[in-house]
Amino acid sequence: MKVLVVGNGGREHALVAMLARSPLAPTLYCAPGNGGIEALATCVPIPPEAVETIADWAQQNAMDYVVVAPDMPLCLGLCDLLAARGIPSFGPSKAAARIEGSKVFAKELMRKYGIPTAACEVFTDIASALRYVQSAPCPMVIKADGLAYGKGVLICHTRHEAEQAVRDMMERDTFGASGRRIVIEEFLTGPEVSVLAFADGQTLLPMPSGMDHKRALDDDQGRNTGGMGVIAPNPFYTQQIAQECMQTIFMPTLRAMQAEGCPFQGCLYFGLMLTDAGAKVIEYNCRFGDPEAQAVLPLLTSDLLSILLHVTAGTLAQADVRFAQGASCCVVLASGGYPQAYESGKPIHGIAQAQAQSDTWVFHAGTRRQADGSLVTAGGRVLGVTAVRPTLAQAVTAAYAAADAIAFEGRHMRRDIGARALGAL
Ligand code: AMP
Ligand code: GLY
Repeated sequence: MKVLVVGNGGREHALVAMLARSPLAPTLYCAPGNGGIEALATCVPIPPEAVETIADWAQQNAMDYVVVAPDMPLCLGLCDLLAARGIPSFGPSKAAARIEGSKVFAKELMRKYGIPTAACEVFTDIASALRYVQSAPCPMVIKADGLAYGKGVLICHTRHEAEQAVRDMMERDTFGASGRRIVIEEFLTGPEVSVLAFADGQTLLPMPSGMDHKRALDDDQGRNTGGMGVIAPNPFYTQQIAQECMQTIFMPTLRAMQAEGCPFQGCLYFGLMLTDAGAKVIEYNCRFGDPEAQAVLPLLTSDLLSILLHVTAGTLAQADVRFAQGASCCVVLASGGYPQAYESGKPIHGIAQAQAQSDTWVFHAGTRRQADGSLVTAGGRVLGVTAVRPTLAQAVTAAYAAADAIAFEGRHMRRDIGARALGAL
């Protein structure tokens, strides 16, 4: 069975690593892949956004199945293009991917179906947005409607900041077309939880919950990043909250998508905030989170490929989905300066030592293998180091021990991944 994975980050390396150990023994391809993925899959140099080229390549090379991981190709309709060529794939249709691709679509869906989320207003003209900002309570959260590479959310503590944010998005076009429509929403507080769930349109099976650490520096200081580390399961997300979320958020979302004529098939990501008034949706993603996938997938003890195939076939209820009882910690090693300017091309050492312990994984995000076989940095987030252990405390210690074995110039990591979670236990 020939399987193509689309994407090039740590999430894709985790997916490829789990697919590589499948008893179905697939032959793996990855477009475009990275310096770590190429040990397990044939890398095909096509960028994830080139959806027509990917679909053509998959057809010409007789792929049996395609797993589409990043948001952009999903929102551009890669799964629809593949279906038109008779190739089954894992991932939502273009219509269902709007749950991530348009914040206005997501907010209207939640409003219509009574799914708990922050109160909000939608604006398409700048004059009304600016008027609204003058009377709305601070802080307020301003979001560009479309995809903005994780940078389209601004938390504004003063009216002046909010006015600047509105002007940046709607007048100066900082986010291009994505920012011409904006959402201004109520600021919520509480612990954040990420829940990834397999969904086949009708059945939904949540994976262990996670806690991302989005800011660049310890104690949640510094800039927002794509994610500096994740622990799973998230201790703030109790059994009782999980049951509540299933009833008030997860199943209502799945049924709402069906009712709207765009049933969701793939991995549905719920970004939740546990407020005093219950769990509320902060955002939906139409895919595996990154780095969440790097922490959660190593906990899976059954076969990922069969689960994905069941999702695509609409038979998820029959799939064998099991996770280890223990805990997982993923620490991201970034290039110095990330998420702002950083240097690339730095030699990386120590990966073999880092992986020496069992249940310890090094996932490559921004790495490149050079012609002489040496490995160098090639991105902001360079590696994700994950350890699975019986307890969270052990997982955190083991992940840091492995991460410390890896060296490259400018290496930056947070030292407090899991600290808040351990405090809650
Ligand atoms: P997003 O890009 O949608 O993941 O949002 C980035 C981060 O902004 C989230 O992880 C939250 O920490 C924060 N955020 C988004 N919406 C809200 C909100 N309504 N209230 C408080 N924080 C928010
Ligand atoms: N870690 C958050 C995301 O994947 O969007």
